[in-house]
Amino acid sequence: MTKNSRLRKRVPRGASFCCLIVFVGQSYAPLLEYETKEVGRALSVAPFVSAAWGYEDDMKRTCLDFFAGSGLVSKALSPLFRTIWANDISEEKYRTFAANHPPEVFRLGSVEDVRGEDVPIADLSWGSFPCQDLSLAGKTEGLAGARSGLFRQWVRVMAEMPELPPVAVAENVVGLVSLDGGKHYVDVHKTLTGMGYRVGAVVLDAERWVPQSRKRVFVVAVRSGVDLSGLSADGPDWCHPSAIRHVANLCENWIWWKLPEPSPRRLRLEDVIDFDAPCDSESKTEKLFALLSPRHRPIVETAMRKGERRAFPGYRRTREHHQMLEIREDGIAGCLRTPRGGSSRQLLLLTDHGKLRSRLLMAQETAALMGAPDFRLPGTYNEAYMAMGDGVAVPVASWLARHLLRPLADRVGGLL
Ligand SMILES: C[S@@+](CC[C@H](N)C(=O)[O-])C[C@H]1O[C@@H](n2cnc3c(N)ncnc32)[C@H](O)[C@@H]1O
Repeated sequence: MTKNSRLRKRVPRGASFCCLIVFVGQSYAPLLEYETKEVGRALSVAPFVSAAWGYEDDMKRTCLDFFAGSGLVSKALSPLFRTIWANDISEEKYRTFAANHPPEVFRLGSVEDVRGEDVPIADLSWGSFPCQDLSLAGKTEGLAGARSGLFRQWVRVMAEMPELPPVAVAENVVGLVSLDGGKHYVDVHKTLTGMGYRVGAVVLDAERWVPQSRKRVFVVAVRSGVDLSGLSADGPDWCHPSAIRHVANLCENWIWWKLPEPSPRRLRLEDVIDFDAPCDSESKTEKLFALLSPRHRPIVETAMRKGERRAFPGYRRTREHHQMLEIREDGIAGCLRTPRGGSSRQLLLLTDHGKLRSRLLMAQETAALMGAPDFRLPGTYNEAYMAMGDGVAVPVASWLARHLLRPLADRVGGLL
């Protein structure tokens, strides 16, 4: 059995009743707690009768997935929200979406061509708009840029709909709050409050759930007039780092969203890496090892000497005209990015039984690092890497959905 099939087996699809009870107890305690509090006794048994996990379809709230990409957001929300409409311009991403979700909800094409009256009314609108103009690695034109500026298309479509979605989430890189003194976030905030929403933002790092460093901003908006007791607080908390506190000071009608802190992560990097997969030739591994800095080399050598099974993920970089291989030694993969040129693909140095090997991170490993080890990746290696590098980590969006978005949607719509 390969490591990936082992990973897939951990997902309790079609589990027996007993396994389901253990599973629900371990993983869905927050969901049960939420149901008990928010939905009442009748629904607290929902996970026991569910075919997979979460609610049966007719108990789910509905969701629009803008900039849906390969569909990681739809996957993350699926236990609590059913995606009834999704849009993206990329044909490759559509193919991945269709391999994982009902394809008929997907509208392939530019969001610029979407008319609000053609979009079904829904409880939640999610917009993971492009990050290139907000990413520190890219041009930083912010919302004035052609790609990140598509945020305005998202709000245009929502405003054109016969009914504004009562809950909305905009997701992007941390540059949204940190660049240019926070002015891009202020723009987003003003736009959404101007539409009648109450708004606040949180930063969540995927590292808390999966062994990948991936900080993202989630701007959560809810229709004014909804009771927010228990879901908001008077001040900042663990999910409000300094950049968020800074922009909060610049914004009117800021909401400090309240989220429970996840328990410490149990999944280790070595759990998602297939140590049996084919690796590079010895000469290639030697060349890569030679690119390590004097600081990193002894760390790898020590792991080999001790016979440790370790994975050291890294990127090749050019520093002062020299190629280097910069690895992480903290058991966490660097942020997956969209591959443009060889340097964006993450490499692995693997030590096991005193031996050193190397290879690129495999496509299914990128999915596991996004918290979706069973996600189907039908395209080429690059397409898969692109889809995952662009995506939202599944357990992060699930956490937000479970603890904030679904309770908000229920309060808007009244109890089920
Ligand atoms: C950050 S990614 C979204 C990732 C996705 N939510 C997920 O979790 O997999 C941004 C997406 O915007 C899409 N996009 C770029 N320009 C677009 C346009 N004009 N209309 C619709 N989608 C567009 C890209 O193809 C990309 O999939």
